[in-house]
Amino acid sequence: MKIAVIGAGNVGGTLARRWSALGHEVVLGLRDPDSAKSRAAAAELGLKAKDRAGAASGADVVLLATPGGVAAVEAAQACALNDGQILVDATNPLNGRLDGLEHPGGLSGAQQIAQALPGVRIVKAFNTVGFGIMAQPVREGRRSVLFVAGDDAAAVERVSALAAETGFEPLHLGGLAASRMQEEHALLWIHMALKAGQGVDFLFSICRGSA
Ligand SMILES: NC(=O)c1ccc[n+]([C@@H]2O[C@H](COP(=O)([O-])OP(=O)(O)OC[C@H]3O[C@@H](n4cnc5c(N)ncnc54)[C@H](OP(=O)(O)O)[C@@H]3O)[C@@H](O)[C@H]2O)c1
Repeated sequence: MKIAVIGAGNVGGTLARRWSALGHEVVLGLRDPDSAKSRAAAAELGLKAKDRAGAASGADVVLLATPGGVAAVEAAQACALNDGQILVDATNPLNGRLDGLEHPGGLSGAQQIAQALPGVRIVKAFNTVGFGIMAQPVREGRRSVLFVAGDDAAAVERVSALAAETGFEPLHLGGLAASRMQEEHALLWIHMALKAGQGVDFLFSICRGSA
């Protein structure tokens, strides 16, 4: 699969590395692909860096891994996506203190992107676990759950398959309205990691069945 990863930071870099190792054709989409920083990031990952529209052109899946909120909407717009392309939103519209979300008008970050990009199939995923868990989603035999939401069933299915291939247990929450809860869940994860003493090396897993 052709995957464009927008942003080569903690999340973008980690998932780009994983997906490339799984045999996908991964290209980085960066604000300034010719800068020394971008060239170093691409070289470290062994990938090509392009501008965001260049990377997203023809991609089966585009992962958005930039700061959330207004920056994410602007980054998504800079990808110049065609109708029907799949954009996976891994961002969280965090406030500066990392203790709240910016949901203007009650819209999640993913819904703000969907409003700005009608026709693009937006799927919310990869926003609720730390990047260290993305590198290795199984701990002591337990698979991390990965919440997935979106309004287009085929796009959700494709992203869920990619999540499963990455080592997660994908869990479909429903339409994109559920992205609000996913962003709240990310806030809980951040609170647990940074303020409630759990550190970053933990995951949420689902247990089923009767006792
Ligand atoms: N860190 C985590 O464990 C984690 C887990 C789940 C979700 N998230 C979410 O994923 C997103 C990325 O997190 P991260 O930790 O990977 O961030 P990061 O390390 O700071 O990387 C973000 C990338 O986005 C680009 N960028 C930076 N500022 C930008 C701006 N103003 N506009 C557009 N692009 C910008 C940069 O790439 P270029 O400058 O090269 O374009 C940078 O490499 C955030 O929304 C975060 O809430 C993070």
